[in-house]
Amino acid sequence: MSDETLIKCSNLECRYGNYIAASNVNFQLNRGDYLCVVGANGSGKSTLVKTVLGLQKSYSGKIEKAKNCRIGYLPQQKAVQKDFPASVFEVVLSGNLANKKFFSFYTKADKENAMKNIKKLGIQEFVKKSFRELSGGQQQRVLLARALCAASDMLVMDEPVTGLDPTVTDELYTIIRNLNAVDNLTIIMVSHDIHRAVSQSSHILHMNKEQLFFGTSQEYMKTEYYKQMQNVETCSTHCQCDCDDTCKASHIIMNHHHHTS
Ligand SMILES: Nc1ncnc2c1ncn2[C@@H]1O[C@H](COP(=O)(O)OP(=O)(O)O)[C@@H](O)[C@H]1O
Ligand SMILES: [Mg+2]
Repeated sequence: MSDETLIKCSNLECRYGNYIAASNVNFQLNRGDYLCVVGANGSGKSTLVKTVLGLQKSYSGKIEKAKNCRIGYLPQQKAVQKDFPASVFEVVLSGNLANKKFFSFYTKADKENAMKNIKKLGIQEFVKKSFRELSGGQQQRVLLARALCAASDMLVMDEPVTGLDPTVTDELYTIIRNLNAVDNLTIIMVSHDIHRAVSQSSHILHMNKEQLFFGTSQEYMKTEYYKQMQNVETCSTHCQCDCDDTCKASHIIMNHHHHTS
């Protein structure tokens, strides 16, 4: 790994028992890169992300990370988590726990870090509210602020805009682009929105259980994979169904644009 490389995966294969969910994964990211992970539902995107983060232990191959690389993570959301009975400030503050080795109390620096990220995401007015009172878009901002408490080097997000309306989606994409462009945060984002993926990111990783493509977004746009993806619309971009890990099979609509409005 070179000095600027933050993460490098070589011949990575991720399994659940005998089932291979992701294979032949080879990519590397330098500081400031913005990677979008694309592919159909069930293609191994979440598994790959969790494995890279060290949350999923069953793999072979090599995962190298830069020393002291601080990574924040916004997991794919499930409906139940939206009903979390804590204040916005508590939710953001708990992001600091990601970098503590043992249970310990929050420090003054943790609280300042939480407030800094609350301001960055423009959610000061909700600080005292209960998380579950907020709209979906507001909740995602809170969870993004939480992830940022742990992320001085890299931010990993798994479908952060799924189920949100177009205006809120635009706002979140702008926030993410600025975190990359202004704060030089390295980004890994699982996304269903292929148009935004290629226009915002520097790199694309296309999964279909095995890795089909890794390279720059410019290179990706010349491939057949990109052409195929343009014909795939997922329900998450057009309707408000709460897609999550348990809801997979019926959500890819090939060559068919359906609008619910
Ligand atoms: N905890 C698990 N145990 C067994 N199989 C799983 C588990 N999580 C996901 N899978 C399977 O692994 C495959 C990839 O899932 P996932 O990584 O969630 O895909 P994606 O995020 O691209 O939709 C799917 O076939 C899924 O059913
Ligand atoms: Mg997933």
